[in-house]
This record gives sequence, structure tokens and C-alpha cells, in this order.
Amino acid sequence: MTKVLIATEKPFAPAAIAQIKPIFDKADFQLELLEKYTDKEELLKAVADVDALIIRSDKITKEVIAAAKNLKIVVRAGAGYDNVDLQAATEAGVVVMNTPGQNSNAVAELALGLMVMMARGGYNGKAGTELRGKTLGIHAYGHVGRYVATIAKGFGMKVSAFDPFLSAEDIEKDGVKAVSTVEELYSGSQYISLHIPATKKTIKSIGYSLLAKMPEPACLVNTARKEVIDEDELVKIMFDRSDLSYISDIAPDNKDEIARNFEGRYFFTPKKMGAQTKEANINAGLAAANQIVDYIINGNSTFKVN
Ligand code: 3PG
Repeated sequence: MTKVLIATEKPFAPAAIAQIKPIFDKADFQLELLEKYTDKEELLKAVADVDALIIRSDKITKEVIAAAKNLKIVVRAGAGYDNVDLQAATEAGVVVMNTPGQNSNAVAELALGLMVMMARGGYNGKAGTELRGKTLGIHAYGHVGRYVATIAKGFGMKVSAFDPFLSAEDIEKDGVKAVSTVEELYSGSQYISLHIPATKKTIKSIGYSLLAKMPEPACLVNTARKEVIDEDELVKIMFDRSDLSYISDIAPDNKDEIARNFEGRYFFTPKKMGAQTKEANINAGLAAANQIVDYIINGNSTFKVN
């Protein structure tokens, strides 16, 4: 019998699990759960005899893949798969997939929510500012970027986007201004919302020179990955520009230094939680389950990323 493990250090909403289970029951697959695990050893033990794995930001290293002797497929229920060792998976003949777009609205809502919160001084009772009429630059116009644009336009923001993989027409058909360089995006945006993946090219790519271009007052919103920020340079520019704030759904490694020096100019959620809604868990979880069944039974590898 095909055995599937959902291994989530940060669990899905119970409603998502309740809807995932019948998909595997119908296919006659056995479902196991490993939730809120704190120790890598627990994961290594749990994967030993599974054929398929559903994960979130859980780290699937070479060691995990080696421990999962029967593993055929890993589905990252979400967008970014920088937490999976793709090379090790490929060498072991394991297919890796993601579920693009399924949790994007949740991330976009949080990005705008963080912006409102910062604009209102963390709801401190003092006069804040509004988003209406402010300029927003969307750095990478994928699924999340598109939702961010739609919501931001609802707020009356002036929205631009930069995406080297899309044509200007692709962006402008949504009523969003396409800019042709990343420098132009930052120069024209008081708010920047990051939606780039963490790759060799993008890691530490957001630093002093780009942030220095932003008009005052500037706010960097990061619901992507902490790794794309050059944290030393971020601190340096926050010292040099007292108008710059940084808000993120993942705390940077230097969060204590930021907290010590920049009171009222930062906010980080306690866990990565852009995609942490019941709806996103259901969308991404069901997509992952269906993709596993379709791959094991029919060989459909549409969302393969390795
Ligand atoms: C993603 O890449 O889909 C998001 O960062 C969500 O990650 P999560 O599943 O750990 O919340």
C-alpha cells in the first residue's frame, strides 16, 4: 500500500487535514501525520518507509532523502522549494513538486496588512498615514505579486512592478505600471513588496544601494525569504535613513540588533506566517494530495521542479 506522510513542523489547519484524508482514502493510500516536530531525528524516523511526502517549509536535506528508501515524490505545499535539496532528490530518483498559486492570496493579504499596521504606527493611537496615493513597487510579479497588485489598487495605491521574466504587456494588462529595471522600481516606490525566490542570484541581493534609491518615507515589505536581504547593509541604511522601516513575516538573523536600534521601524511575525490561513492550507494541502495521487497512479508530473 502506498504510504504518504504529511511532515509539517508548522501544521496545517485541522480543516485542511480533514479534507486531505478522503483524497488518500479514495486512492487507497495510507496517510500518516508528523506535526510540530522539533527534532530532525523524528523526521528521519518518520520518512523511513514512506512513498510520498507532503511538506511546507520543512527542510528536506540529503540526509532525509537518504533515510527515505521508498520515497518517490515530495510535494512542497506552497510556492518556494528552497528548503528541498533538489540535487539529492534528483540523484535518488525522487520527483519534487510545488503547488504554485495555492497560498498566494494569503501571503498578499498579509503583505498589505503589515503595511497598514506600519503606516498606523503599530496601532499606537497616534496619527499615522494612509496607503491611498502612495507608491508601491512589486519586486517580481508572480502569483503573490499579482494578488498584492489587486489589493493595493483597492487601497488606491499607485502600483508598479518589475519582473525580468515577463513582458511589459503581461504586467500592464492588470493596470500596473511595468518598469524595466530594478533600480527604476526602487527609485519610484515608497513601499517595496518583495516576491523574489531565494536563489544563488537573489540571495543578499537587496541591500544598501537599492534601498537608498527609495523616496521618503520608505518601507520594505518582505513576505518572501529572509535570505534575499543583505542584513548588514539593511542595518547600515536604517542607521543612515531614519525614514526607512522594515516589515517581514520572517525575522532576520540580526533581529536583536534591529530591535535594539530601530524601535517603531520594524515588525516581524513570530513564525513565517504569510501562508498560514485555513484557506491557504486547504488550497495547498488538497493540491499536494491530488498531485501525489495523480503522479503515483497516472505518472502526471506537471508541477515537477527538479
Ligand atoms: C511558500 O513558499 O509557499 C511560503 O513561504 C509559505 O511557506 P509555509 O508553508 O512554511 O507557510
